[in-house]
Amino acid sequence: MKKLMVTIFGSTGDLSMRKLLPALSRLIVEDQITKEIEIIAVGRRAFSNDDYRDYVQKNKNSDFDINTLKDVLTYYELNIDELSDYKKLKDYIDQKTNEDTVKLFYLAVAPELFPTISKNLGESHLVKKDHFNDRIIFEKPFGHSLDSANEIKKLLWQSFSEKQIYRIDHYLGKAMIQNIIMVRFANRIFEEIWHNRSIKKVQIIVKETDSILSRGAYYDKSGALIDMVQSHLLQMLSLVAMEVPLSYQSEDLKNEKVKVLDQIRFDQNVKLFGQYKGYLEEKDVHNQSKTETFVFLKAYVDTPRFKGVPFYLMTGKKLDVKASYIMIEFEETNEQRKWNLPLSTNKLYIKIDPLDGVSLVLNSKVPNLKDEVEQVELDFCSACRDVGNRVEAYQKLLLDSIEGHKTLFARWDEIEKSWTKIDELKKTNSNLYVYEDYEDLKNKIKREFNEEI
Ligand code: BG6
Repeated sequence: MKKLMVTIFGSTGDLSMRKLLPALSRLIVEDQITKEIEIIAVGRRAFSNDDYRDYVQKNKNSDFDINTLKDVLTYYELNIDELSDYKKLKDYIDQKTNEDTVKLFYLAVAPELFPTISKNLGESHLVKKDHFNDRIIFEKPFGHSLDSANEIKKLLWQSFSEKQIYRIDHYLGKAMIQNIIMVRFANRIFEEIWHNRSIKKVQIIVKETDSILSRGAYYDKSGALIDMVQSHLLQMLSLVAMEVPLSYQSEDLKNEKVKVLDQIRFDQNVKLFGQYKGYLEEKDVHNQSKTETFVFLKAYVDTPRFKGVPFYLMTGKKLDVKASYIMIEFEETNEQRKWNLPLSTNKLYIKIDPLDGVSLVLNSKVPNLKDEVEQVELDFCSACRDVGNRVEAYQKLLLDSIEGHKTLFARWDEIEKSWTKIDELKKTNSNLYVYEDYEDLKNKIKREFNEEI
């Protein structure tokens, strides 16, 4: 295995504590990557290695043990505006690496810092153009709008080749998201009915119970639409709605996803933006902030396959449960109507979190003497089978970036199209509803749009 050097910008941030360091630790402990690894945690604070480890230990909120990284983790103080600091970092890294070493530079920072850091990485030759072992990974969101994303793209393409650029959407690293394609295309019973003659509606739901935690500075500039919909929810939608790709290869899949993103049309009359009560008192949030922590949207995909089928997208903080899933509801049969049976429908659930799996709701006769029909669920819980071995999304994505596999990373045109749609949506006014809890939102959606979620 090649030697590995992982440099993390934003190493004192929430993402590093909660996801990146734990994922790297598991990859090492489980022997998935070389033991010849060094992790450089870059930050502006004057920490010693011990200070940094103590900081992580205090701030992490998972069962990850920082001691598993003790021998490979170094803290490195750097001012991100100072080119000379990057040059010194290059000298440091050069001493420890050779031409074959895979060097990952992970930008776990807010998108407004992408240009400065990327420019300095290029100018200091820490990342050399067309050196495919030098890779640069961008956390989402990639920009704040189409314009800002375009600017970052231009700057990156001047200094690096597209092959060196990895744009993260950690939902693509989740097992069930990868499984959507298998469920659709490797099962005749679904493949045959995956169109608007059989599908009545689709719901794409990501509910969270947490608040914004300590991420006010980032979140208040983003909100749920940018934080979640532009990336995770639109990626899910495109996997559900895409045409049959030419092959199972990365580029073919992406070609089809892009076509879907291009055909999304939001229903401007059915949308709700909410903010949880107490948001304005959160740390680093502006005291009159209009940032949304909840979004409910209705959209259509204007392709022959899905024309007319409503797609409901919903995501928010401080809701009733933590749950991410896609629900595909099918049309009633003619017989249900003709024979005057209950009009309950078949539903396919693609469950992403917390327990991933697939379930299918069917109508079935109650085994009694009467002619009663009940809904039964065929449930496959993938997570229950893999207790303790569940691969975290960041583990999968870090491994893929180490191995140079780009399938699960977003291509530029996917980002471009999704920003186009989000920018369009933002142009129209939306009132902000301050919500108590999920019940409150459900009632509001029922009252205002006559929609059930
Ligand atoms: C991140 C968002 O991309 O996804 C967070 O920035 C959100 O605000 C998180 O909490 C949700 O991810 P998961 O994997 O916990 O569903």
